[in-house]
This record gives sequence, C-alpha cells and structure tokens, in this order.
Amino acid sequence: VKELKLIAITRDVSPSIGRCELTHLPRVSIDVAKARAQHRAYEETLRGLGVEIVALPAEPALPDSVFVEDAAVVLDECAVITRPGAVSRRPETDSIAAALRPYRALSFIHDPGTLDGGDVMRVGRTIFVGLSGRSNRQAIDELAGIVGPFGYRVIGVPVSGCLHLKSAVTPIAEDALLINPGWVNPRDFSGFRLIEVDPSETQAANALRAGHGILYPAAFPKTRSRLEAEGFRIVPVDVSELAKAEGAVTCCSLLFGRSHRGHRMSKRGVGRERGRKGGDE
Ligand code: GLY
Repeated sequence: VKELKLIAITRDVSPSIGRCELTHLPRVSIDVAKARAQHRAYEETLRGLGVEIVALPAEPALPDSVFVEDAAVVLDECAVITRPGAVSRRPETDSIAAALRPYRALSFIHDPGTLDGGDVMRVGRTIFVGLSGRSNRQAIDELAGIVGPFGYRVIGVPVSGCLHLKSAVTPIAEDALLINPGWVNPRDFSGFRLIEVDPSETQAANALRAGHGILYPAAFPKTRSRLEAEGFRIVPVDVSELAKAEGAVTCCSLLFGRSHRGHRMSKRGVGRERGRKGGDE
C-alpha cells in the first residue's frame, strides 16, 4: 500500500513573539533570531522524515502565529477552522483557512464556541477535546456536528494545570499515549497504552508523530529514555526558545496527508465549504 505524502503547514516566527499570550509561564525575553533558527531546524527535521513543508510568511502583528496548530483541525475528510480562545489569536485563522483550502473542504467554529487546535487530539476515529481555558463545550458540540457524519466520536475531557490538552497528552502510536497524569485524568483514556512523563519533566507530554519518527523536545532526556526503552524512535529537536512562548512541537505545524483525490481540490470542492459566516468574530 502506497503511503500518503504528509504535508505540514508551518509559519515563520513573528518578530512580535515576545508579546505572546502566556497563561502558565512567567514572561521572559525571547531571542527572535534563535527562535527562528530553532523553527527552521524543526522544519528541516520534518523534511528529513519525508514531510513536505508549506511555509507561510511571518505575521508581524500576530505574536503567537507560529503556533499554527491552534487555528485548525485537519482530518482526512475535511478541515475545521477554529475560533481560538484568546481574542488576540483570532486573526490567525484567515490565512490558515486560505492555506488549507486547496487541500480540504472547510468548516468553521462559530461564536459562542471557542476552540484551540492544541486542545484537539485525534486517535483513530476518536477525537478528544480538552475543556481548557481556551476551548469550550459549545465548540465541542459544533465540532461533533461537523465530524460526526464522517464517523468520528468527539469526547470532551477536563484539563487543568496546563494550557492545552496536548500539553498533557499526545499520541505516540495508534494505541499509545504519552501522558502527564497531573494535568488530565488517565481514566479518560482507558483502553490506550499509557506512558507517563518522568515526574521531574512536567512539560514533557507533547510529542509529534511524523512519518516513522516522533519529534520530541531535546529538553526532556528522562522521558525520552523512557520512550526509547519502550521501543519508540525519537527524533530530538531543540525548541527551548519557542517553549518560552508556551509552545511545543505539535503547535508549530498542521500535519496531514495529501488528499486521496490528488494534488489540489477543484473549485467545486471549495464551493462545498460549510458554515462560513462573515463578521462573527
Ligand atoms: N503562547 C501560546 C498561547 O498562549 O496560545
């Protein structure tokens, strides 16, 4: 079986990243040049895993816009453009919708729903959504209405102590999750093989499966050893400067398979876009 080519949408680090949203971290100065160099290395690492990068230009007025994951949820069948929980991040979605339109039919989350892609974790046909400071029940219901017809089950799970669901738990195989049990309840993920972060590395649950490897922050060697001891192939990346903006490895890309229909969707595909309403932000 020929595997689908993976595409990652990324966006260059904004020169204003120092004014990013911060919820659980103190503000410390961010070296933009270093953050950019780390981001380029992240893109190169993805390329090395066989991923095609679609790189968007920096958005000088949008400090958090490098964290493209929060602006959309991309499934094989469609993409859902979010309505981010932080007001400052809502203008990030227009350019992400434009970048995704060639690949997927789009749907949209509307007011009063708020959803950050960092709160959305798909494993098989189940989509877990974190009830965090950013994502609410209305958005979960709206998402369920959009993706239910494609056979996905959407489950809201409480998150506390961290920014997003995927700060606390991420998939590292079809049946295995890397988890910080202090921030989500492991019982919400029964049926999966759970690998816990090292207790001294609380931020270590965010890993990005890409191709045959797992991109993983270099800052968490103890958890990395646990993963390698379990047979996972870890590809370390240094994202220390981006971590100061409360971002990690999943946040910096929107990763998806090229459409089964081929390279680009037709104009008819674009015409099927659902639920676009003007002026609802
Ligand atoms: N700085 C990342 C966020 O708060 O969304």
